[in-house]
Amino acid sequence: MFKPQVKPELNDIPKHIAIIMDGNGRWAEQRGLPRTAGHKAGLQSLRDAITVCILYGVPYLTVYAFSTENWSRPSKEVDFLMNLFEDVLKNETERLHQQGVKLNFIGLRHNLKPSLVQMMESCEAKTSANDKLTLNIAINYGGRSELLEVTRKVAAQVKAGTLEPEKITENEIIEHLFTKGQPDPDLLIRTSGESRISNFLIWQIAYAELYFADKLWPDFGKDDLAEAIEFYSKRERRFGGLKL
Ligand code: FPP
Repeated sequence: MFKPQVKPELNDIPKHIAIIMDGNGRWAEQRGLPRTAGHKAGLQSLRDAITVCILYGVPYLTVYAFSTENWSRPSKEVDFLMNLFEDVLKNETERLHQQGVKLNFIGLRHNLKPSLVQMMESCEAKTSANDKLTLNIAINYGGRSELLEVTRKVAAQVKAGTLEPEKITENEIIEHLFTKGQPDPDLLIRTSGESRISNFLIWQIAYAELYFADKLWPDFGKDDLAEAIEFYSKRERRFGGLKL
């Protein structure tokens, strides 16, 4: 049972948690249900993750909802997910707003349905002043495509003569990332027993602690996220240096 009612006293709370919410399809298949039922069930785990982040005072949460590779799934499943995103935004933004959640979408928008993009933009505008938790939802996101876009923008600055190649530092890259202005994730969680990064935030997770859980995403409850945060709080992070 998830017990904490007040912010738990831990040494070190992650400032940014990234989650690869994997295993929805298998969860449904194990129950003889269509895969889409797994995505619906996964939504409750996402609500729970938001609640836990707010309780623990984690200021940033990024979730992988749809990758650039997910377009290769059967069109029925892709359509279901796109409609689910739109419904969720329509029905849940008010509650997220009340909770103090600032919504931010990361990923390429140009090949998403215009009605979905409109909804994403209006949710971002409505919640832009909230400061309890920034929730980045990755839709049509891929780490490589993010870095390609960054490269194009930096190359354009060089071509225009406003940036010297030898003056390019990490800062010139960071300022074009979707997560500009945010701390890098210090904890990356992937559920369902898989231990891959799958093109998620590949620049940003350079120093993240990796946490692989066996549970499928719809089974990953509040206690499980609390356990992952406790795991993180016990790590000793050195960022390539030595402990002083
Ligand atoms: C991965 O499981 C999950 C997804 C591709 C979709 C995740 C979406 C949700 C949890 C709904 C959240 C809604 C919003 C608005 C963010 P999988 O299908 O790859 O599972 P499998 O590996 O068992 O097949």
